Amino acid sequence: MHRKILVTSALPYANGPIHLGHMVEYIQTDIWVRFQRMNGNLCYFVCADDAHGTPIMLRARSENLTPEQLIQHYQEAHEKDFADFNISFDNYHSTHSPENRELAEYIYLQLKKGGHIRRKVINQAYDPGEQIFLPDRFVKGTCPRCGAEDQYGDSCEKCGATYAPSDLKNPVSVLSGLPPEQRESEHLFVCLSNFTDMLQDWVGNEVSQSEARNKLKEWFDVGLADWDISRDAPYFGFQIPEEKDKYFYVWLDAPIGYMASFKNFCDREGIDFDAFWKDEEQTELYNFIGKDILYFHTLFWPAMLHGAGFRRPTDVYSHGFLTVNGKKMSKSRGTFIMARTYLDHLNPEYLRYYYAAKLNEKIEDLDLNLEDFVQRINSDLVGKVVNIASRCAKFISNRFEGRLSTELDHPELYQELADALSSISESYENRAFSKAMRKIMALADKANQYVNDAQPWVIAKDPEQVNRLHNVCTQGINMFRVLVYYLAPVVPDLARRSGEFLNDSMDQFEKAQTPLLDHQISPYVHLMTRIQQKDVDAMIDQSMEKEATLDTSHDNIISIEDFAKIDLRTALIIEASDVEDSNKLIRLKVDLGTETRQVFAGIKGFYSPEELVGRKVVVVRNLKPRKMKFGTSEGMILAAGDDDGLWLIDPGEQVGLGVPVN
Ligand code: MSP
Ligand code: ZN
Repeated sequence: MHRKILVTSALPYANGPIHLGHMVEYIQTDIWVRFQRMNGNLCYFVCADDAHGTPIMLRARSENLTPEQLIQHYQEAHEKDFADFNISFDNYHSTHSPENRELAEYIYLQLKKGGHIRRKVINQAYDPGEQIFLPDRFVKGTCPRCGAEDQYGDSCEKCGATYAPSDLKNPVSVLSGLPPEQRESEHLFVCLSNFTDMLQDWVGNEVSQSEARNKLKEWFDVGLADWDISRDAPYFGFQIPEEKDKYFYVWLDAPIGYMASFKNFCDREGIDFDAFWKDEEQTELYNFIGKDILYFHTLFWPAMLHGAGFRRPTDVYSHGFLTVNGKKMSKSRGTFIMARTYLDHLNPEYLRYYYAAKLNEKIEDLDLNLEDFVQRINSDLVGKVVNIASRCAKFISNRFEGRLSTELDHPELYQELADALSSISESYENRAFSKAMRKIMALADKANQYVNDAQPWVIAKDPEQVNRLHNVCTQGINMFRVLVYYLAPVVPDLARRSGEFLNDSMDQFEKAQTPLLDHQISPYVHLMTRIQQKDVDAMIDQSMEKEATLDTSHDNIISIEDFAKIDLRTALIIEASDVEDSNKLIRLKVDLGTETRQVFAGIKGFYSPEELVGRKVVVVRNLKPRKMKFGTSEGMILAAGDDDGLWLIDPGEQVGLGVPVN
């Protein structure tokens, strides 16, 4: 009997592109799913965009789009990226969907009926400038535990403390830079502690990763706090039934998005939804996630499911974070690489293989070392695997009309490769992908050794040894075939093209137990090329260029108070002359109406002194005077510039009255 399995990856937020960090998860999950399918199991794989929440609402606002337009844009981009990385979703949906609304309302109302919802008035950070309640991540300040500055309102990256934004010292809103106010509002909570016993039981029986179990033990020891699931308007999300102007917090309906995507798939394909969501015995459910969202998936999520009468996950599989060249991904180093940028330069299967070679069952971070990446792909995939086929195939085509022999030269060696299936399967099943890759490459080494020793290119010259040549090359091709079967979950496109070459389906591991004999194959076309370092360099370059055009305004925010300190006045230029010893400066005398000032402006070459006299400008009146070797500059003239030029800011008609302009 084959297993019936439903698998999910975490739902990417619909307000930004997919990057290579995200891809760790989608590739890890996809390899596991493809392994299950090749192992003869029924395995569905669904995902969706996570479309709700304040960041998405604000992002849409700043792009002058409706949230619906924004999330549609990103969903299309995400689906394209995933397809091009050969991620084999059965369905890709959105949390902003009718299925999700229905399921979220249903689950909430079931929880309410079960007495698991409670009301509490809370104080929440409110941005008086933007006039919205601020999510924890939109408040920054000093960690109350260790004193680290510039920490988010939910947790400290330095010491790992978790707290409320109101615990931060010197908090500011990242939107306006203003200190947030504390405002009262009634919120709805799920009483998580009602589920403590159930959750401990579930963790004890089902959650397999020891790091996750340890973390959970810590959380149980502290005690499970009520979970705030409502947000006030304005909010992009689903309204809470039986309430006025309250919305589900994005993390309530996000995991329900797994169900909604599957529901959408079931309705289309006529599959039994309940078999996967009501029954813990007949079917299996696995959620693949990153380590940052463990709490949501091992406490809130099973509690919601259980409280509403659904099954809980069979297990939750968490992975670590990606670093590039040993460091956090960085825009300035060009290592914050978008999935699309990668695809513009490199074959997706290189990255799939590299991640597989690095991933294990633990919650450990993994490093994409770009030098190692080039070397590993070229030596393993191209040098060891594809090479076997390319060394044997031409003899089969040229000398034996593309037909494999009726016998192998070395059946015991073939058997050794075939027998490795159960061990390799076990590693795949346990998500010990790096172990699986090592086992496969050890077999590839043996296969290459065999070809080196048998030397088909030497036998080929000896007419006496035609049969031996046929059997040796048949042996080589068959060993190549077994290796590609084993690698197929990782490099499905290589497997597909190898299948065309071998006239073989390459779809079930089982089939590799029997060699292809007396079988017609197609002419060999090169299956994979080496990575060129220049392509990697170009990808890094492009990732840096993107940085230059990215919006960095958030990195350099000044508050409204900071801005209000600047005393701006309109003024008239009454004198202008070039500064002899400077190639930048022009000396100006400006009339503010109340007084005249001398200002040195760095606008030489953009304006001539003649055309400046009589122009109206805006002057910063309260800039600290600066002594220069030509004299003192008593203010600043405002101009805006870019690579193409410089433009003085023109205040319009009314001039010389010393009128404040801000
Ligand atoms: N929307 C939530 C998940 C909701 S699931 C019901 C979310 N989205 S995310 O876009 O921020 O991340 C999606 C997945 O990618 C998460 O599992 C996250 O852990 C993972 N990763 C994001 N950046 C990553 C790295 N740099 N490295 C590895 N995984 C990373 O969280
Ligand atoms: Zn801290």
